[in-house]
Amino acid sequence: MGRRALITGITGQDGFYLAGHLLAEGYEVWGLVRGQSGSRASQIHQTVPDVHLVSGDLLDQGSLISAVDRVQPDEVYNLGAISFVPLSWQQAELTAKVNGLGVLGMLEAVRVCGGINASRSAPPGQIRFYQASSAEMFGKVRETPQHEGTPFHPRSPYGVAKAYGHFLTQNYRESYGMHAVSGILFNHESPRRGAEFVTRKVSLAVARIKLGLQEKLPLGNLSARRDWGFAGDYVQAMHRMVTQDEPEDYVIGTGVTHSVRDLVEIAFGAIGLDWRDHVVSDPAQIRPAEVDLLCADPAKARELLGWKPSVQFAGLVQMIVESDLKMLSGSGTAS
Ligand code: NAP
Ligand code: GDD
Repeated sequence: MGRRALITGITGQDGFYLAGHLLAEGYEVWGLVRGQSGSRASQIHQTVPDVHLVSGDLLDQGSLISAVDRVQPDEVYNLGAISFVPLSWQQAELTAKVNGLGVLGMLEAVRVCGGINASRSAPPGQIRFYQASSAEMFGKVRETPQHEGTPFHPRSPYGVAKAYGHFLTQNYRESYGMHAVSGILFNHESPRRGAEFVTRKVSLAVARIKLGLQEKLPLGNLSARRDWGFAGDYVQAMHRMVTQDEPEDYVIGTGVTHSVRDLVEIAFGAIGLDWRDHVVSDPAQIRPAEVDLLCADPAKARELLGWKPSVQFAGLVQMIVESDLKMLSGSGTAS
């Protein structure tokens, strides 16, 4: 009998790749979807038809307990979140609720449905739990590269809420003996990345400029540095963490950092253009507090999970630009 996984955030980038990975591994995969219109459900059925759906919202504890109780999963992956950092300043309270209290809601659902109480540690055959933690928690970094022991100094309401979810996951592991792990993931991208994130904003603009549909690309801080990898690689790391004997937290990244300026240079270069002719400064994109530099030390994941990224930065940028060119010229599927 195959294992059963429940994924929150199934409609997002990582939900798509993780569902595909787990299905290929023989899992029965369930996704939590919110809302009443059914449009999210039909979107999932078009992209990953073999996924079963259950309704629920990270803001509604009862719905999370019902979902876990109905699915009876072996593994729960909590990927659902408000994931766009700038939005977290505009909707700080909502971000705290979804990204912070939503983790509490999922952990409680797993604890209650798994029959775990304070006086009894987790029974064998317990539900395993994965929390989508983030390199944003390192924020104003105390050291470079950042590893599992690097202190947190979050710079956005998003990062603060993620830190709460991270420590709570650790606390449930220590309090109840739960197999609960956090992946501290650095930026990961793909053709399925939301159009508001800088990689996809750039690749879409490059494709539109190539097709004569746009001329200028307004951007904010070009000096910010990130450790960018491919989402398809990162979901494999999530699965490996959950299937380890010992529940532990891991940093997942490439160990290589690039600036937004490097990103535009490679993306425009891919179509033979000079970014300086097209990129313009947009002060509205400057954040109240910036994370200047992220760079992972993924040594622990390499040693204990046998994980390493398969796509390098230039290949990643090329992949996204090509996908958007195909999509906008009508020969690819919309992502
Ligand atoms: P994404 O594409 O923005 O997907 C976010 C998902 O969260 C969507 O499926 C969304 O569902 C769901 N969601 C939002 N509010 C919800 C709520 N109230 N209840 C239930 N679901 C809700 O994000 P992603 O890039 O796949 O990232 C997955 C997770 O990893 C997130 O937690 C993110 O913060 C974290 N993370 C991402 C990265 C990265 O570089 N991608 C790095 C580190 C950590 P709807 O369709 O219903 O809106
Ligand atoms: N989005 C965006 N738009 N970012 C811009 C722009 C712009 O026009 N111009 C410059 N940037 C800079 C941002 O200031 C930031 O320093 C960097 O590009 C990356 O921004 P995003 O792609 O929006 O990602 P992020 O690093 O803020 O957050 C992503 O990675 C985190 C992990 O490190 C998200 O996926 C988070 O959910 C994730 O936790």
